[in-house]
Amino acid sequence: MITDTQHSLVYYGNNILRTTAQEVVQISQMVQDLVDEMFAIMHREQGIGLAAVQIGVPLQVIVIDIRSNKGPMMALINPKVTAFSEEKDAYEEGCLSLPGVMADVIRPVSIQVEGIAINEKPVKFEASGLLARVLQHEIDHCNGKLFIDYLEDYKRKELNSQLKKIKKLNRE
Ligand code: NI
Repeated sequence: MITDTQHSLVYYGNNILRTTAQEVVQISQMVQDLVDEMFAIMHREQGIGLAAVQIGVPLQVIVIDIRSNKGPMMALINPKVTAFSEEKDAYEEGCLSLPGVMADVIRPVSIQVEGIAINEKPVKFEASGLLARVLQHEIDHCNGKLFIDYLEDYKRKELNSQLKKIKKLNRE
């Protein structure tokens, strides 16, 4: 088990979470190592999804593990949502970059996703339920977006003091 990691989590307030991550041109050893490290950090933090920007690496790479929910464990490079269902639902989300913050977010129930698997094969699939939810959340990270962006102003204001505290985690 990997206990030491090269990168560490960045938190809300860190600019990298607001940048558009770059496409991966080649799945090099560096990208393979990055994916391994992302899985290690996500598992250590007991998350179900993680994007590379969340550990300070501005590349379009995400990992997901929802085996506890009878779902898959997967890494996806350059992921894109290519179609959304009209049907939406609300579900409570959290984020390792926003520790302690939980809020209901409304998103499409099912989506179509394209990307590249770690074995360099292009993949295209439909996802629904929790998998669609986590994919959308992580792909948003690749585009500089956070789940709190979807909240109504009053709700985000309620989170203000919590958000201020989280920003300080970046400087520790
Ligand atoms: Ni997140």
